[in-house]
Amino acid sequence: MSQRSRTGAVALAALVLLVGGCTDAGGGVRGTPGAAGLRDPLFPKLGNGGYDVSHYGLTLAYDPATGRLDGTAEITARATQYLSAFNLDLAGLTVRGATVDGAPAAYNRAANELTLRPRDEIPEGTTFKATVTYTGVPEPLTDADGSKEGWLRTAGGAVAVGEPAGSMTWFPGNNHPSDKAAYDIAVTVPAGLDALSNGIRTARRTEKDGRVTTVWHEAAPMASYLATVAIGRYETGTATALGSVPVLTAAEKPVAASSAALRAEVPGILARQVKLFGPYPFAATGAIVTADGPLDYALETQTRPVFPASSFDRSTLVHEQSHQWYGDSVTPASWKDIWLNEGFATYGEWLYGERYEHVPARTRYETAFAQDANWAFPPASPPAAENLFDPPVYQRGAMVLYKLRETVGDRVFDEILRGWPAKYRHATATTDDFTAYAESVAGRDLDDLWDVWLYGDEKPSRP
Ligand code: TRP
Ligand code: ZN
Repeated sequence: MSQRSRTGAVALAALVLLVGGCTDAGGGVRGTPGAAGLRDPLFPKLGNGGYDVSHYGLTLAYDPATGRLDGTAEITARATQYLSAFNLDLAGLTVRGATVDGAPAAYNRAANELTLRPRDEIPEGTTFKATVTYTGVPEPLTDADGSKEGWLRTAGGAVAVGEPAGSMTWFPGNNHPSDKAAYDIAVTVPAGLDALSNGIRTARRTEKDGRVTTVWHEAAPMASYLATVAIGRYETGTATALGSVPVLTAAEKPVAASSAALRAEVPGILARQVKLFGPYPFAATGAIVTADGPLDYALETQTRPVFPASSFDRSTLVHEQSHQWYGDSVTPASWKDIWLNEGFATYGEWLYGERYEHVPARTRYETAFAQDANWAFPPASPPAAENLFDPPVYQRGAMVLYKLRETVGDRVFDEILRGWPAKYRHATATTDDFTAYAESVAGRDLDDLWDVWLYGDEKPSRP
C-alpha cells in the first residue's frame, strides 16, 4: 500500500468507527465519544459534550503542611448521546482510578482533559455514575488577564475559587456554566482547622485519626465556577435572614474582628435586596472572608461569597450578594454572556446606592459614561478571554440596564429586573434570552437600544 492510500484507509476506518458506530445493528460498537469541549466562544475547550451532570459528590482531604489534596469525585450524569467514552476537565493532579457504574473504566490524560472509557457503553438517556479518585498538590491557573484562580494555597490553609476555569484544579467535572448540578462536598482537615464550602453544613465529625471532616450540601443547581472550599483557622457567626434562611459567615482568625461588623450586615442587606430583586433563590447565605494572600478579588461563590479581607467592604458585599440572583441562579450559557453577571451585579450596587445610600443611579451612570475605559468594547461581545472582567463588562453592562430603565420606565423596568431571575431561576440563559424577555415584558421592540448600548462599538454622543 502506498503511503497515501494507507493514510486514506486509516482515515476511512476512523470514519467508519465514528459514523458507523451509531448504525450498527448486530451488537457491535454503537457509541461514540462525547466532545472534548463545548466550543464556548471564549473558552472552546471548557466543558464536555455527551452528558449532563446532575450531582457531584466530592470527598476531599487536605494537608496544609504539604499542600496535598486527596479526592474522590462521584459524578452522576445522564448520557445525551450513545457514549463509548467521555471527557472530564481536570488540570494537574494524578488520577489513581476510575469507575463507571461500579466497573473499572480505562482512563487517559491529555492537557486538561481526562477521558474515561467505560467497560460498557452508555446508551443515550441513561443515568450513570462515574467515580474518579485522584491525588496531588493542586496548581492554580493563571488566567489570560493575569489573575490567579483554582486551588490557592494560603498561609493558613487554602481557598478555592473557579471563575472561569479553576474548579478543574481541584475536582474533575463538566467545567462549563451551561451544565449546573447539585453538590455534596466533604472536606477532611487536621484538627484545629475549619473547612467551609457552599450551602448547608450537614455534618461535622472527628475521624479516628483525629482529623475533622465537615460535610456541605448545596441542593440548588450550581455552576462549577461557583463551587468553593476555604480551609484555615476561621471564626464563624450564625444568624437567620428573611425569617428562615440560615446565615453562616466565616472570617479567618487574623481578620475576624475587623470584619465582624460588616458580616453582621449580611441579613439586613439581603432583606433589602429581596425587595429589589424578588425572592432569594437559595437555602443558605453568608460570606467567607480570608486573610489577604493569593486571592486578590472577591467571588460570588454560591450561597457564600468569598472575599479577601482587603475587599470586604459594603459595596463589594452588595455586589456579590446581587450575583446570587444574577449569575448564580440565572447563569450565563456561555462566557460571552458574562455581562449578564457583571452588568447586573454592578447595576445592583447602583440600585442599592439609590434606594439606601442617597446616591442616585443617574450619578453613577454619568460617571461611568464619562470614563473612556468603559467604552473599549460592547458589553455583549468581550473580544477575548483576557477581557472577561474588563470595565465595559461591568460598567457598560450596568449602563445598558440604566438605559433600559430610562426607555421603558421605572415600573416596567422593575418587572424586568425581578422577572428575569424568576423566569430563569436555577437555569442558564443567553443575552438573546434577556433581550427577548425584556421586549416581551415591555411589549415592544427594543432593537435600537440593544444596537447602540449592548452591541454598538461607538460611544453615543451624549449620555
Ligand atoms: N466575578 C467577580 C466579581 O465581579 C470578579 C472576578 C472573578 C475577577 N475573577 C476575576 C475580577 C479575575 C478580576 C480578575 O464579583
Ligand atoms: Zn461581579
